Amino acid sequence: MEMAIYLDRIRRAEAYLASLDLPVPRWCIILGSGLGGISERLKKVHRETAFERIPGFSGTSVEGHDGKLVFGSTGKTEIAVMEGRYHLYEGHDPRTVVLPIRVLLALGVSRFFITNAAGGIRSDLNEGDTMMIRDHLNLTGYNPLTGPNLKEWGPRFPAMNDAWDPVVRRLTVRIAGEIGIACTEGVYAALAGPCYESGAEIRMLRTLGADAVGMSTVPEMTVIRQAGCTVAGLSLITNIAGTDIPPDHGEVVDVASARKPVIHQLILEVVDCCKKEVSP
Ligand code: HPA
Repeated sequence: MEMAIYLDRIRRAEAYLASLDLPVPRWCIILGSGLGGISERLKKVHRETAFERIPGFSGTSVEGHDGKLVFGSTGKTEIAVMEGRYHLYEGHDPRTVVLPIRVLLALGVSRFFITNAAGGIRSDLNEGDTMMIRDHLNLTGYNPLTGPNLKEWGPRFPAMNDAWDPVVRRLTVRIAGEIGIACTEGVYAALAGPCYESGAEIRMLRTLGADAVGMSTVPEMTVIRQAGCTVAGLSLITNIAGTDIPPDHGEVVDVASARKPVIHQLILEVVDCCKKEVSP
């Protein structure tokens, strides 16, 4: 995609969302496979728009992803929720994958809580557990910053150490413990998919230090960190990788759907709690 077309898509989406004249969300929550529906818990929904109705966006196609952007309030905190996202495996250009993030950053959103479904690699992880991302391996073969860079996006060569906000991460682990959700910290390996990994690939990932594996999240984090904004990532372990049982997308969505009530509760408590504890 040509840069001029890309910038035009971002500007059209930004202009449309700005024209809705809603309060600037303090947080954006991105919900992964089977984790949609958090807006039902909000005190107030200001506006709900399907991705395909936002100029410059395009529709999503994967089961378990509604593809809509919701603006609302928990009662304490203004938030935006991305229910669904663009994936590399759908054939989207890496820059399209992060287009909604660029638009939200342009609107003034500075804190992002990203969720995903992931396969557990570390031996203590069980199906249904959660893992806060402490570090990542970008093994997608893509980087959304490839190509021309605009000064306003951030540095050409952004640092990726301590990318995952330690304060939000530890706070989430603490609140998870208080509400009885198993939550550890670990390393997330992002692959482009759409195939689930072979046995040899899982052994490779384990050797490389990965604790969980999935097909998302790292592209979004990359542009958020380029902008110097705050990002936290939560992986829901929907299956144990590298066993004799082949992973199955239906099962991934089922496990996520079963766990989503507590995960929604956790995220909303964290964003409300972070009002004072996190900068900016
Ligand atoms: N591998 C990659 N992505 C995933 C998995 C997995 O085992 N489970 C959920 N998303």
